[in-house]
Amino acid sequence: MIKKPLILGIESSCDETAASLVTENDQGSPVILSNIISSQVEVHKDFGGVVPELAARSHIEKIDLIVQRAINESEKSIEDIDAVACTAGPGLIVCLSVGLSFAKTFASIINKPFIAVNHLEGHALSPKSNSLLDYPYLLLLISGGHSQYLNVQNFGKYKRLGTTIDDALGEAFDKTAKLLGVEFPGGPQIEVLAKKGDPEKYNLPKPIFNKGGCNLSFAGLKTAVLKITKTIKTEQEKFDLAASFQKTIEEILYKKTKIAFEQFEKNKTIKKKVFVVAGGVAANKKIRSMLINLCKEKNYESIFPPIELCGDNAAMIGIVGLEKFKLKQFNDLDYPAKPRWALDEEANFLKGAGVKL
Ligand code: KG4
Ligand code: ZN
Repeated sequence: MIKKPLILGIESSCDETAASLVTENDQGSPVILSNIISSQVEVHKDFGGVVPELAARSHIEKIDLIVQRAINESEKSIEDIDAVACTAGPGLIVCLSVGLSFAKTFASIINKPFIAVNHLEGHALSPKSNSLLDYPYLLLLISGGHSQYLNVQNFGKYKRLGTTIDDALGEAFDKTAKLLGVEFPGGPQIEVLAKKGDPEKYNLPKPIFNKGGCNLSFAGLKTAVLKITKTIKTEQEKFDLAASFQKTIEEILYKKTKIAFEQFEKNKTIKKKVFVVAGGVAANKKIRSMLINLCKEKNYESIFPPIELCGDNAAMIGIVGLEKFKLKQFNDLDYPAKPRWALDEEANFLKGAGVKL
């Protein structure tokens, strides 16, 4: 019997230290043998956001134990590992450097290839853990640092159709939560508060709703939320604001996704209309159900990663590592940490004042 590849995946780009062992089944689909995540919520709670130096220090403290646990839980041994895949970017450079340094050392000691992985590609391929994904597919990547529509033409071949011109969607959720007095990390709590509120109570802006194709903008929402929070007197009004924010986001994504569908369909090579949603915000149940309904309306198959693979994890890094291993796409041990690393490196930078849409 031919041995299936076994990949150790490592992730440390922001505030999660994670390690995972990934192999494949007879159909060539990834199988996750272990997926260990250590979150740093307690480390950053008092600061209301991620403090890079503290995050890096915590990665250094945890990484050996997390990798050890991932190997133990997989019931494999170090000798079985065929390659070490690690996030090389984008992310916080001091944090990336911890994982990278560990992964390169580990790979060289066991004398196996090192594979540098783009964190965003990890999110893009995360649904491979529970679904068969054929190329091309349309991807909506919504995380704390990125919000993009991408035509995933093939493995490693991305064409960006739209992106945020200011804040990422997760960032908008986090900032709104902070303004509502919710403890860090507040994004997921908005959904909880929203359930108790009236979504029609406040009329929030929808920046670039009627222009800019499927590009997105969320910064104006934060300013509007800030103004309203100054007038809020009761808990109920807080719930109403969370509900109005959640509803506004759903309306923006509904409209922009329809535009992204039209752009994706211009591509003559599509065999099947498939829409994948990944990244931390893909865990939002109301956004999920709205997008599932839109897919039914427009005859798309909708695919989401399991909830536990929406946020940052190392299984998704192992999944990319597995693909790269099969293609023998290995990297040298001097591969740099890349704080910025776009999936579509030919797309224009679309942030800041003076952006033309
Ligand atoms: O993918 P991820 O774990 O990290 C990045 O690569 O950025 O995404 C984290 C983001 C955070 O901004 C968090 O608030 C947001 O995802 N998030 C959510 C939910 N769960 C996580 N936002 C809205 N609703 C949720 N249920
Ligand atoms: Zn992420």
